[in-house]
Amino acid sequence: MPYYHSAGSVPPKRHTQHRDPDGNLYYEELMGEEGFSSDSSLLYHRHIPSAVRAYRTWDDLPDQSLVPNHPLVPRHLATHQVFPDGVSGLDAVTGRRVLLGNDDVRIAYVVADAVSPYYRNAIGDECLYIEAGDALVETVFGDLEVGQGDYVIIPRATTYRISPRGTVRVYAIEANSHITPARSYLSKHGQLLEHAPYCERDFRLPSEPRVVEETDVEVYIKHRGEGGVVGTVHVLPHHPFDVVGWDGCLYPFVFNIADFEPITGRIHQPPPAHQVFEGANFVICNFVPRKVDYHPLAVPVPYYHSNVDSDEVMFYCGGDYEARKGSGIGQGSISLHPGGHPHGPQPGAMERSLGAEFFDELAVMVDTFRPLLLGEAGRATDDGTYAYSWERNQ
Ligand SMILES: [Fe+2]
Repeated sequence: MPYYHSAGSVPPKRHTQHRDPDGNLYYEELMGEEGFSSDSSLLYHRHIPSAVRAYRTWDDLPDQSLVPNHPLVPRHLATHQVFPDGVSGLDAVTGRRVLLGNDDVRIAYVVADAVSPYYRNAIGDECLYIEAGDALVETVFGDLEVGQGDYVIIPRATTYRISPRGTVRVYAIEANSHITPARSYLSKHGQLLEHAPYCERDFRLPSEPRVVEETDVEVYIKHRGEGGVVGTVHVLPHHPFDVVGWDGCLYPFVFNIADFEPITGRIHQPPPAHQVFEGANFVICNFVPRKVDYHPLAVPVPYYHSNVDSDEVMFYCGGDYEARKGSGIGQGSISLHPGGHPHGPQPGAMERSLGAEFFDELAVMVDTFRPLLLGEAGRATDDGTYAYSWERNQ
């Protein structure tokens, strides 16, 4: 995050002695991006943050394999068929199943009702979109209460765990880079500009950090290894949540999709008007309930388009998506529209949309600039017929 925040106990001068009431020194940790050349925070630990008592490989990490989208076709992933309602016994970290991915980003999904282990992603930032339910996200920076429609942005290497309050549905966008607000929204010093569809007041930051005294605590670490994504489990002699204070510009935060102020126009606004975040070689956009195009001859649904340089992933997470009517897509569905194939409204949607004044739709879109491959859950949820949906419904 571009702006400074301080929580808990920090000394007036950085890199100086900071002591507990008994006179013991706290251990200062700099969490910094791009070496020492970008955003960072200073955390003050009660114990040495490097200490490890034991380690092992994370052997039951879910299938991380990726298979090319070949033959090249648009696909409908019906996630709710594979992740039905009811008790799953899964947690929102180890239960994630990979839908799609490439070397820049992986998209996974989970229905969770169990408390996750402590976890950190050593590959990149995570953007967790909460499709439904509530959860407490405990982090080394402090707690975040999250619920439906929240984007939870968690910087790389942040230790955290997720405790669902009941059942929570999580759409996890795991980057191999950092995830930030769209750069076009930011001033040269990082403030959100007036034309941005949200501002700093819309972000929710962690509570005061919590200090937990506990020994022999496991932390699951996802990282790069031979053949792709692998995992390691560290057993720490002291609880990783031993931070008494921190300050800086690097921390997890929450933004709710309902706080995105849609930009509308007389004629159709292209997806960049709906951008919310970005990472290296991908963007995240959202389509929210909004007034639609008001030119007297406007066609409110999108025109057919061929994104020659990107694959497009739509996650339909609320409302009623006008352009996809008749395709079988419903709540929780995902469409993959790959580069090299034009796509657009289902037959009849264009005509039905004429004269519409409002679309009650909610979708999160990831556009990747390199082709996406199908993960284990992507292969398991593919309806196999979506490619024919424009032809069969004419
Ligand atoms: Fe599209």
